[in-house]
Amino acid sequence: MPSPVWIQKLLPFPRLLWPSLLLGMGIYHFVMTILEALFLDRQPAKVFNLTYVRYKAFARMWKKNGAAMSQEMPGPLDALVGKCRGLILDVGPGSGELLKRFNPEGITAIYGAEPAGDLHEGLLKNARTAGFGEKYHALLCGGEPESLIPALHKSGLLGSSGEGAIAEDGVFDEICCLRVLCGVPRPRETIKGLYTLLKPGGRMVICEHVVNPWRTEGSMAARVMQFVYAAMGWSFFLGGCEMQRDTREYLQDAGEWETFQLQYVQPKNVVPYVVGELIKKR
Ligand SMILES: C[S@@+](CC[C@H](N)C(=O)[O-])C[C@H]1O[C@@H](n2cnc3c(N)ncnc32)[C@H](O)[C@@H]1O
Repeated sequence: MPSPVWIQKLLPFPRLLWPSLLLGMGIYHFVMTILEALFLDRQPAKVFNLTYVRYKAFARMWKKNGAAMSQEMPGPLDALVGKCRGLILDVGPGSGELLKRFNPEGITAIYGAEPAGDLHEGLLKNARTAGFGEKYHALLCGGEPESLIPALHKSGLLGSSGEGAIAEDGVFDEICCLRVLCGVPRPRETIKGLYTLLKPGGRMVICEHVVNPWRTEGSMAARVMQFVYAAMGWSFFLGGCEMQRDTREYLQDAGEWETFQLQYVQPKNVVPYVVGELIKKR
């Protein structure tokens, strides 16, 4: 999910309450998506497909606010993505708001695994603007193996072992997970699948919000508020985004790493981030 920085600047809200603004936005777009299905598309049956409504509503929100939510990113992210090289997998690139932070020169190709079809037009537009041209390939799939592997196979990146959602070892030089692992299904398994797709010595760039580390550098009040927002429907109204994921641990357990450098950014916030890079063991 998005960086809180722009919202924090906008309103002098108490630190623990600012996520309620995002939640409010999520609820607004959920309601608007239902109204559009009923009165614009005149397809009331769509309203009963809650999964459709939830993901459509999130894409609607991201289309309207993604750029503003990407103006300032946490920690050393610019430096980390600026040195991306070779063949890249970008998991959940959304509308590509972060692509301008990459340097297309050393990049052979980027494959963006984005399941929200509504965001693809903006994604390809931003890829062109960022100078990627033909190097950018948008895949209509998620980062979970059963969705990603067949899509990579279809695109010609995987050989016969790509069939049946079995990943081929070591395909990508780098994999970027930027504000996406909070929403992927079965995160432990999905992250292991991504680890497999990384070449030995390959790099994973991470910028993810996680469960508040209240036992160490975090805050107990912020951890309690994570329960409160979860109970208020955070995940339901924000496209499946989970506030309380221990993504750091899932990454650590995914396999053997030569380098595991992740730093907490704003650890006392309700939405603290881990940002950094991991190098797969050679
Ligand atoms: C908060 S947005 C972040 C977009 C982009 N990474 C960024 O930071 O600007 C999360 C994105 O993840 C996508 N997403 C949701 N479920 C996903 C999944 N299972 N696999 C990959 N991406 C997913 C959403 O459609 C959305 O575009």
